[in-house]
Amino acid sequence: MELMDIIKKRKSVRKYTAKPIEREKLIQCIEAARLAPSADNLQPWRFIVIDDPEMKKNFCSHICRGIFRPTGFIEDAPVIIIILAKLNFIIHKIGKIVIKINLHLLDIGIAGEHLVLRAQELGIGTCWINWFNAKKANKYLGLRRKYRVVSLIAMGYPARGATKNKPDHPIEKILYFNDDFRKGLH
Ligand SMILES: Cc1cc2nc3c(=O)[nH]c(=O)nc-3n(C[C@H](O)[C@H](O)[C@H](O)COP(=O)(O)O)c2cc1C
Repeated sequence: MELMDIIKKRKSVRKYTAKPIEREKLIQCIEAARLAPSADNLQPWRFIVIDDPEMKKNFCSHICRGIFRPTGFIEDAPVIIIILAKLNFIIHKIGKIVIKINLHLLDIGIAGEHLVLRAQELGIGTCWINWFNAKKANKYLGLRRKYRVVSLIAMGYPARGATKNKPDHPIEKILYFNDDFRKGLH
């Protein structure tokens, strides 16, 4: 499949069939993430793949409580991938002070989207998840301070009606050549 077809087909999937995802396919998705670019090639990502139903249930019971209840649907996803950032890189600390950008978050966004697009190519639906109790997630995993949960990706074969049509901004709203942006950014 052409890359652009994969990009166009990808939609967040929030309803899944019970069919498990083959480990081999999961590894292919992580392989796509592994090859992502990163600032200073630090590759700050680590992935914890939960495909054990008991562990998934337990994890979700910690992180989807209270205001995070709407995220409870991820318990029905056959797989949850936890993306961790390794935080003890000096370049990231300098970056935050000097250029005021959290480089590790950019890196993780790129790697995660590589993963998502490879999943799409393999027919697997995904949904990025950040509305969860991250503090509880870190505690549940017993992470040392130099690692932190950044995002989750719920994964599963899409059930019927799993995706919604959503309005994407038209290109005129987001693209400006040269000085055109001075006339006004939308
Ligand atoms: C960083 C990030 C965090 C997100 N967090 C959630 C979330 O917590 N729950 C959810 O249902 N969707 C979440 N989404 C999915 C977005 O709602 C979705 O990407 C957006 O509405 C566009 O729809 P599409 O993915 O179908 O193109 C998240 C997406 C991104 C990129």
